[in-house]
Amino acid sequence: MKTAITELFGIQHPIIQGGMHYVGFAELAAAVSNAGGLGIITGLTQKTPELLAKEIARCRDMTDKPFGVNLTFLPSFTAPPYPEYIAAIKEGGVKAVETAGRSPEQYMPALKAAGIKVIHKCTSVRHSLKAEKIGCDAVSVDGFECGGHPGEDDIPNMILLPRAADELKIPFVASGGMADARSLVAALSMGAAGMNMGTRFIATREAPVHDNVKQALVTATELDTVLVMRALRNTERVLKNKGVDQLLEIEREKGVSLEIQDIHEQVAGVYPKVMIDGEMDAGAWSCGMVVGLINDIPTVKELIDRIMTEAEQIIRQRLTGFLDGTDVKAPARAVA
Ligand SMILES: Cc1cc2nc3c(=O)[nH]c(=O)nc-3n(C[C@H](O)[C@H](O)[C@H](O)COP(=O)(O)O)c2cc1C
Repeated sequence: MKTAITELFGIQHPIIQGGMHYVGFAELAAAVSNAGGLGIITGLTQKTPELLAKEIARCRDMTDKPFGVNLTFLPSFTAPPYPEYIAAIKEGGVKAVETAGRSPEQYMPALKAAGIKVIHKCTSVRHSLKAEKIGCDAVSVDGFECGGHPGEDDIPNMILLPRAADELKIPFVASGGMADARSLVAALSMGAAGMNMGTRFIATREAPVHDNVKQALVTATELDTVLVMRALRNTERVLKNKGVDQLLEIEREKGVSLEIQDIHEQVAGVYPKVMIDGEMDAGAWSCGMVVGLINDIPTVKELIDRIMTEAEQIIRQRLTGFLDGTDVKAPARAVA
């Protein structure tokens, strides 16, 4: 399949693996890229630019296909040394960067001078248009369903994607709630040129996280995520667990006077506990509603091959079947 996104990044399939804290290591990024998608190393999981340079080199040893790096611009008092992270990306020969969080505007000249394609993750049409204006090559349109930070507008992808298609000139991928061939074909129908998946890629054999995390994703349903930190305007969709129950209790008690220090224990340092040690009740970690569509733990290649094969079947048989009246069967079920 060829789309504006496959052409932009020089990849075989229009599938991107979004940056994920303590998940997006070289192993997963290389597996996604080797399977024909665009794998992404999560820049800030590497605590220094030197460590990121090593992670890029490790990834390069595992794949000769294009891969990218995620740079998340956090609202933080002690900002990470972004220019040095960008230098590590440039020197590592990486040609794709997924930016997220705040606008990447101040870093665009450095990224563009290094010949890097920038895809900015946005949760609204207005931010997508801003990304287009400042020279981003593409956007990842992240709907309300998404794991992580959906923003504060609460617009799901059924609305957000066609709205983006009506306004944007640059290509975009659908992000949030994407799991299988049905997601991909739906995203393409709504104007996207591919899809970005986060949560789904955690439940793969190569994802370098504790097995408890993968099992939790297989067990959970679409009812098992919840929004936290709304009062801080830093809303995050996370998987329910005992630590999150405590967090919600504190949020209820504090109401609008909630401050980040009040929930420090439930949000700080949680990722290594969950992803490395498998402590599933440690606190808040991002997870999308799409968890309700995850029923297995395939290899990344099995997952991507399955998506592409079934997407072709949906387009060639189910959709054209409706047009010529030869296939009027009911729901397109997931094979797995
Ligand atoms: C465990 C986890 C960690 C994440 N960490 C980051 C991150 O550090 N930076 C970022 O830009 N997005 C992060 N995300 C968001 C993903 O890149 C992606 O946009 C999102 O997962 C898409 O929604 P989905 O989970 O429904 O596929 C994270 C998501 C998950 C599930």
